[in-house]
This record gives sequence, C-alpha cells and structure tokens, in this order.
Amino acid sequence: MGTPADRGYDGAGPEAPEGGPFFTLAEVEKRNTAKETWLIIRGHVYDVTRFLGEHPGGEEVLLEQAGRDATESFDDVGHSVDAQEMLKEYHIGEVHPCDLKPDPSKVPNKAPSSESSFWTVWLIPIVGALVLGLMYRFYMMDGRSS
Ligand code: HEM
Repeated sequence: MGTPADRGYDGAGPEAPEGGPFFTLAEVEKRNTAKETWLIIRGHVYDVTRFLGEHPGGEEVLLEQAGRDATESFDDVGHSVDAQEMLKEYHIGEVHPCDLKPDPSKVPNKAPSSESSFWTVWLIPIVGALVLGLMYRFYMMDGRSS
C-alpha cells in the first residue's frame, strides 16, 4: 500500500500540512500523465501517481480523471469508508481559494451588467428627486393661486 513514507514524494512540493500548500487548477492540470497523476476531490489535491498500480478500480479510471476534479466520479462509484480514509495518504494540498469560485473577470457581459446596476442604483434617486421637485412646485403654485 502506498503510505506517505513509501510513496516517496518526489520533492515537487512539500508533504501536505493542514491548510496547504495551495495549487492552482492550472498546476493540477499539468499533472495528467502516468508519470505524475494528480486529481482533485472536494477541493483537496491528491497525488495518486504511486497508487495507479494499486487502485482496485484500475489505473485507467484514475488516468481519465488526472489533472482535474474527480469528485463526481469518485462519489459515483460509491467508494467505501476505507477508500475515503485512504485519500489521506495521497493528500498533498488544497485547490487555491481563487480557483474554488468562478472568476468574476471571466464572466461574460460583465461590463453591461455592471452598467445596468449603475443605472438601477442612480435612476431611483434621480426619479425620486424629480417627483419631489415637481410636487413641491405644484404645492407652491397652489399656495400662490389661492
Ligand atoms: C485517491 C483516490 C482514490 C482512492 C483512494 C480509491 C480507492 C479505491 C478503493 C479502496 C477501491 C475498492 C472498493 C472500495 O473500497 O470502495 C476502489 C474501487 C474503485 N474505484 Fe477508486 N479510488 C480513488 C479514486 C477513484 C476515481 C477518481 C475513480 C474514477 C472513476 C475511481 C473508480 C473506482 C472504481 C470503478 C472502482 C471499482 C469498484 C468496484 O469494483 O466495485 N476511484 N477505489
């Protein structure tokens, strides 16, 4: 079995301490071969290179998921509690927090939507001020005519 000691982590990064290190999705994506096989499960990064030959489900399925988020595939199989426990042995870090949520700068139509929020923010007070101004004007005219 691949214990942290015998899998001999190759020094590409430190052993996984709690809360780090962090890897970007781009860094994980590069490790998508049998030479270096990383995958993501629930925001954690796992180096399963040394597990390829030991995985009871075969190395093919791991290689298919290499370099990407395997959470759905991992859960779909209905892995046992033992398998969930084994994850710890291959844990090398976390997905960088910036990559956990969608990047707002990559959301299309960002400019128009921020423009439209600009108008909803300003249009309501402007229209409100105009209505108040008109009401005041009519009130004053009423006062003068009576
Ligand atoms: C580090 C990640 C993984 C670990 C530690 C792991 C571990 C295991 C273990 C211990 C088993 C034996 C059955 C069990 O105890 O549930 C197993 C079976 C299996 N695993 Fe994984 N697995 C991992 C990732 C994956 C991924 C990403 C897939 C993608 C589809 C996958 C697909 C399978 C399949 C198809 C089986 C065979 C199920 C069967 O014969 O009933 N595993 N895995």
